[in-house]
Amino acid sequence: MSAELICFESRCRARFPITEVIYNCPRCGGLLECTYPGRSADPAALKRTWRERRMSNAKLDQSGVWRYREMIAFLDNYDSVVSLREGNTPLLDAPRAAAYAGLDRLVFKHQGFNPTGSFKDNGMTCGATQAIRLGMKRVACVSTGNTSASMAAYSSAAGLQPIVFIPHGNISYGKLAQALEYGARTFQVEANFDQILALVMKLTERLGIYLLNSINPFRIEGQKTIIVEMMDQRDWNPPDWIVLPGGNLGNISAFGKALREMLELGLIAKSPRLAVIQAAGSAPFYELMKSKDRSVLPKVEHPETLATAIRIGDPVSWPKALHEVTSSNGVVEKVTEQEIADAKAQIGLCGIGCEPASAATLAGIRKLRAAGVIAADADIVAVLTGNLLKDPDYIYKYHTNQLAAPGGDKIQSTFGNQPVVVPNDPDEIARLLDR
Ligand code: F0G
Repeated sequence: MSAELICFESRCRARFPITEVIYNCPRCGGLLECTYPGRSADPAALKRTWRERRMSNAKLDQSGVWRYREMIAFLDNYDSVVSLREGNTPLLDAPRAAAYAGLDRLVFKHQGFNPTGSFKDNGMTCGATQAIRLGMKRVACVSTGNTSASMAAYSSAAGLQPIVFIPHGNISYGKLAQALEYGARTFQVEANFDQILALVMKLTERLGIYLLNSINPFRIEGQKTIIVEMMDQRDWNPPDWIVLPGGNLGNISAFGKALREMLELGLIAKSPRLAVIQAAGSAPFYELMKSKDRSVLPKVEHPETLATAIRIGDPVSWPKALHEVTSSNGVVEKVTEQEIADAKAQIGLCGIGCEPASAATLAGIRKLRAAGVIAADADIVAVLTGNLLKDPDYIYKYHTNQLAAPGGDKIQSTFGNQPVVVPNDPDEIARLLDR
């Protein structure tokens, strides 16, 4: 099968070889995506093959990304695939979270079960593999934390040199620790994510380093498989809604592309509606959807949120995200710091847990339910993007009533669960437990 890069802009649609090292269209500057001219499939046969591969011990088949390789067929061969057995993330029923949002039922697809604890691994296995195919030696990204953790792991596993740029003081220690442990050269830049991305794009071009941010179309190919796996797990019955947090808007771009392609290939019969949730202090995409003129993104100059993973004011993939949300008849919502913190505690009480950005999903669903946009009996899958242990500092502060929003406003510890200091005395502890 042939694969090409194609400009996402409908007025351009220029095509380029799949092995060209480009991130934007050289002709018009638009975003790029992978395309597979002439691709067709026997949907029933594909579904059977994918199910059978779950029984296999082969590396490619064990990966929840490469198992679906017919959907991401940009390689000539699979010799250089770097896999940490990513994907394979569960669908988890969360009755307590459903009740909190006013729903009959709610299911989470938990991407925090990935090898480095976030959905980035689905994309990074593809991005790192493409880097090897292109003969690159060094790879780089700017990150709010998860991309850097994932890139560090996959490139070290592949023998590439990872170089990470992060906003100084604004990523959680869990994520920074991963980048260090996985051997990335790590630069903490005194600027925000958006400013550092501009810097890194210049640097990578100048130094011949491969850029692995989500502007890289191969990352998006891998992240598509989150949706393919979700449909496989649901026996190809699409839900009414898929809900996810939005930061740089790569993931929503991947989800939309997956749905378009699955419809085209006859793997599903209808598209779910996509709902993107942003933090109120970093919500340029929400503002864009509200705006009459959707041709210019109303950037947020100084984005703020304790959900640092989505602290982004100028998301690069917004044109793709706009297309995918509108063509799925989707919506964009924003939620406050308090709403995120409380929703996160509710997810924890389901025995599931996640990092702050992921909890924006439940907060957003609750708001959309209250506004009547989502029905009580809707069939919903919310994607939890990152593992609970990514940001333990936030959790401890919430439960001990010490969490404050970026402006200094106190966040109420609504569902707080304070640890209790006790003497080494069984009678005293028994008395406390009786209360
Ligand atoms: N949730 C988590 C846990 C994330 O780490 C991110 C993005 C998002 C949601 C938003 O996804 O950018 O595709 O819209 N983190 C990036 C990073 C920006 O650098 O790790 P998006």
